[in-house]
Amino acid sequence: MLAVHFDQHGGPETLYLKEVAKPSPGEGEVLLKVAASALNRADLLQRQGRYPPPQGASSILGLEASGHVAELGPGCQGHWKIGDSCMALLSGGGQAQYVTIPEELLMPIPEGLTLFQAAAIPEAWLTAFQLLHFVGHVQAGDSVLIHAGSSGVGTAAIQLARMAGAIPLVTAGSQHKLQMTIKLGAAAGFNYKEEDFSEATLKFTKGVGVNLILDCIGGSYWEKNVNCLAVDGRWILYGLMGGADVSGPLFSKLLFKRGSLIASLLRSRDKKYKQTLVKAFTEQILPHFSKEDPQCLLPVVDRIYPMAEIQAAHGYMESNRNLGKIILELPQ
Ligand SMILES: NC(=O)c1ccc[n+]([C@@H]2O[C@H](COP(=O)([O-])OP(=O)(O)OC[C@H]3O[C@@H](n4cnc5c(N)ncnc54)[C@H](OP(=O)(O)O)[C@@H]3O)[C@@H](O)[C@H]2O)c1
Repeated sequence: MLAVHFDQHGGPETLYLKEVAKPSPGEGEVLLKVAASALNRADLLQRQGRYPPPQGASSILGLEASGHVAELGPGCQGHWKIGDSCMALLSGGGQAQYVTIPEELLMPIPEGLTLFQAAAIPEAWLTAFQLLHFVGHVQAGDSVLIHAGSSGVGTAAIQLARMAGAIPLVTAGSQHKLQMTIKLGAAAGFNYKEEDFSEATLKFTKGVGVNLILDCIGGSYWEKNVNCLAVDGRWILYGLMGGADVSGPLFSKLLFKRGSLIASLLRSRDKKYKQTLVKAFTEQILPHFSKEDPQCLLPVVDRIYPMAEIQAAHGYMESNRNLGKIILELPQ
């Protein structure tokens, strides 16, 4: 089968398609014939040598995929049959024509969605769902500051926060991106390149600050984050796009707010945790992707690249131009 490959760490130019052995499903696993996958920041980091796959995971890029069941491994419980269309949360391997996956980590595709839209769901939406509910314990009425509001994870988090009865506020780097986040349900958006988002957030919350921050920026935002965190607020760190270093009185400021700083990574979680997450998401969230549903959740797809154009797809994400997800179409 063909898979996205690189021989050495580096820029997008190191990526190419390579013929590799097709995997076969082990105990309780399903072989998925991949129709589409999607890019994540983790792919860029892995390519650069800054985010190795967890032990036991495929070294092929791709944390999510949609497609059809091609084969069932021994001991499968009969939840899936050959030909079923589904989407999958993966710890790697999605950017290849076939991938194996524990059957419990597959999800049905909501009616009315294409395989491309489905590929935009697993990693971004399960991350956002996990951050808001499993980690952040969001409550109706909470204000939630979502950084990188137009990212794959951000566009999902806005909609899920709204659905939970919370008030999503976002940051993004352009007016165009902010407009899109407002359409998705953000109550307000702040251009971090043009204003101090922390002061704007305090103004919006009448000096109280936000109950929850979903922070994938880290270092460059720490002081502003703690400044606009409400007393007893939860600040969830799940990415480091703004660096990993902190210099200054973080602890005293956090202590003064009685704030909780919680770090979260989904990819390295064990199978049981992911199974629980996928089950909760399938039951509580997937039904709301229907056009008839009042919530009408929407996976935001920016562009679809043929897999052969993987270098261009990485370059596009690296230039921060995407609004929502970048999809890869696999050769059939
Ligand atoms: N911990 C986990 O389990 C987990 C799981 C999935 C994703 N993540 C993390 O979630 C984040 C979003 O991932 P994604 O794939 O959804 O991203 P994405 O769609 O590529 O969007 C990322 C956006 O972040 C903004 N950005 C980039 N560098 C920035 C900086 N230094 N300061 C402020 N904004 C910056 C850019 O938009 P602007 O134009 O607005 O600047 C960029 O388009 C990443 O950090 C990723 O590693 C973590």
